[in-house]
Amino acid sequence: MRLRNKPWVKDEMRTFDNLLEEPETYKGRWAEWFHNDHPIQIELGTGKGNFITTLAEKNPDLNYLGVEVREEVLVYAVRKAKQKNLENISFLWFNVEKIEQCFNPGEVSRIYLNFSDPWPKSRHAKRRLTHASFLEKYKQILLPGKEIHMKTDNEKLFEFSLNELSHAGFQLKNITLDLHQSDYMEAREVMTEYEQKFVERGMKIYRLEAAWMGDK
Ligand SMILES: C[S@@+](CC[C@H](N)C(=O)[O-])C[C@H]1O[C@@H](n2cnc3c(N)ncnc32)[C@H](O)[C@@H]1O
Repeated sequence: MRLRNKPWVKDEMRTFDNLLEEPETYKGRWAEWFHNDHPIQIELGTGKGNFITTLAEKNPDLNYLGVEVREEVLVYAVRKAKQKNLENISFLWFNVEKIEQCFNPGEVSRIYLNFSDPWPKSRHAKRRLTHASFLEKYKQILLPGKEIHMKTDNEKLFEFSLNELSHAGFQLKNITLDLHQSDYMEAREVMTEYEQKFVERGMKIYRLEAAWMGDK
């Protein structure tokens, strides 16, 4: 649904103090924003925010940033965090294409990619958030030894991502082709909005972890 159908969205967004429209200004200064130097985990394409707000609630010693370009879904995420009075989470109203402009090298300790748009046509492959060009940006901001955690219902996107990550030098581990029938209890516990729908329909969820070991 586009913004023109929901004119209240932009007004409500501007009332939130946990939302950044120009997050580049905090590059290298996130400790100032959060008033502490706890590790920062980010979710790219956060949607309505169930996943990242639940993590923030469970882990008060970590800081979380949800990145989302569509205000009509982001508004729900920001509201959730406010209703839970969470101090350790904020949201970037921002396009992942420019993510390297928001963080100094090594400023991010984990990246979550949950149910990213699959962009099935080959001519749109560059828009997939695990395309090599995005992985180069993630390498710039990720602390060496730290990880990307990805979940998807889309087999083709999963296959594409395994190849892209492997070619980019990420170390793959804990791969499952059916998360909710697996032993990865912790990863099963916290679900996204899309995941809840897919699991209810009995669909399989693919998951991987990819560690960036730094330039050799
Ligand atoms: C399929 S939805 C999944 C939402 C959520 N992660 C979930 O699992 O419920 C993908 C989300 O990624 C966002 N997105 C896609 N490309 C993006 C980009 N380049 N920058 C920021 N957000 C993006 C979309 O707007 C959409 O909300």
